[in-house]
Amino acid sequence: MDKLRLAITKGRLLDSSIEMLERMGYDCSALKNPGRKLLLNMGGLDVVLAKAPDVVTCVELGACALGIAGKDTIMEHGGSFYEVLDLGFGRCRFALAAPRGSDFFKGYKTRRVASKYPKVARDYFLTKNMDVSIIKIEGSVELAPILGLADGIVDIVESGNTLKANGLAIVEEICPVSARLIVNAAALKLYKSEIVGFIDRCREVLK
Ligand code: PRP
Repeated sequence: MDKLRLAITKGRLLDSSIEMLERMGYDCSALKNPGRKLLLNMGGLDVVLAKAPDVVTCVELGACALGIAGKDTIMEHGGSFYEVLDLGFGRCRFALAAPRGSDFFKGYKTRRVASKYPKVARDYFLTKNMDVSIIKIEGSVELAPILGLADGIVDIVESGNTLKANGLAIVEEICPVSARLIVNAAALKLYKSEIVGFIDRCREVLK
């Protein structure tokens, strides 16, 4: 392989990913102004900009040796790859939230819960032995209780502002979330020194 290929998640993880790569010595000007280009050459590294679940797919299937993805997406997507480093940025948490003042756990009727992360939500309620009906929502999941679609939501919470602005409050925190460096298993065997070198340099600049 001439160069390592790294898939980066577009959106909330992008700025911190660029900052980390710059501290590692990469010239990120192409990444800062990509225009409509999705595969960018950054000297010793090729970078692919993709949506979070696609970053995981690219790494799992070997299209990219390395990827930066949120733990939220990794938990929802699953798959076989190595999660080698907690990058420490993109910190938030998974939480169950419900309309402020409501008692989510009261009563016996089956609750409806909306989430962009149905697997995470299902796994969470399994640990509680609760039979819950999960509704998959693609975005703005906070709307679901307002519209009467659901009794609560399972979502990532960062500042808590979106919950607050929509009359919701955390019922229970589920687990912390942050950006992770993931690696394709076969690539790690084939290009061990390059990949281990990359991981070490990440670790170094994150200290
Ligand atoms: C995420 C999440 C919440 C919000 C939480 O959505 O789903 O809606 O951010 O952040 P806060 O606690 O700081 O308010 P995102 O911005 O990724 O957009 P989306 O709902 O369109 O997916």
